[in-house]
Amino acid sequence: MLPDRRVALITGAARGIGAAIAGRLARDGACVAVADLDEAEAAREAERIATAGRSAFPVGLDVANPASARAAVAAVLEREGQLDILVNNAGIAGLASPVAEYPEDEWRRILAIDLDGVFYCCKAVLPHMLERGSGRIVNIASISGKEGNPNMAAYSSAIAGVHFQHRSHLRHLGGSGYVLKLPSSTRSGGRRAYGGCTRAWRTWMASRSTRSRLMSC
Ligand SMILES: NC(=O)c1ccc[n+]([C@@H]2O[C@H](COP(=O)([O-])OP(=O)(O)OC[C@H]3O[C@@H](n4cnc5c(N)ncnc54)[C@H](O)[C@@H]3O)[C@@H](O)[C@H]2O)c1
Repeated sequence: MLPDRRVALITGAARGIGAAIAGRLARDGACVAVADLDEAEAAREAERIATAGRSAFPVGLDVANPASARAAVAAVLEREGQLDILVNNAGIAGLASPVAEYPEDEWRRILAIDLDGVFYCCKAVLPHMLERGSGRIVNIASISGKEGNPNMAAYSSAIAGVHFQHRSHLRHLGGSGYVLKLPSSTRSGGRRAYGGCTRAWRTWMASRSTRSRLMSC
């Protein structure tokens, strides 16, 4: 259980890892903002959490749009008066394809969501957290950003950027509680995300990825 009342904003929380994080934080006593591009599914997920007697509400959010990130943070602050935890989880693997055939607009779309989105959401919450003198930001990354997946240059590049954006924020903010968690592939998400890679590569990646590895940098 969390020591006192905390408000958490989880991006991409309508399903998958984000929904699991939202559910867990709510069980631990946090009030969770279930933020997602898919507003209908975010509303259903928030309702599922609330039906179990926890505190949750949906927020529409496109992490690739800085105005949307600011509006989502403002909506949480207007409703709850505080924001203690940001989990930057929203992300897409996008198309898996050889680089010579890779569409430029797909490259940009993946970078915008996976890399720019982390920056926009951090930028939107930090004034509030710095003013209060406390806050936690968790950036969900992937081993793909350390190893580089074949045929997934955009995703691997974006996630590598998240690793180093995280380090940069950490150094600037003086180690005020940032953690970067690198989950190993989930059964469903892994198949969806890494379907363009060979089985041998997926097996090798799994061998490189420890569940719930914590990288302190
Ligand atoms: N699933 C895995 O095996 C795995 C492994 C390593 C890292 N990750 C990372 O974990 C995170 C979550 O992965 P997942 O498998 O749960 O994904 P998922 O596809 O199940 O869910 C992603 C959620 O993000 C939302 N989303 C997509 N674009 C958005 C945007 N522009 N703004 C706001 N929300 C948006 C989707 O609507 C969806 O609800 C991602 O950042 C992914 O890179 C996943």
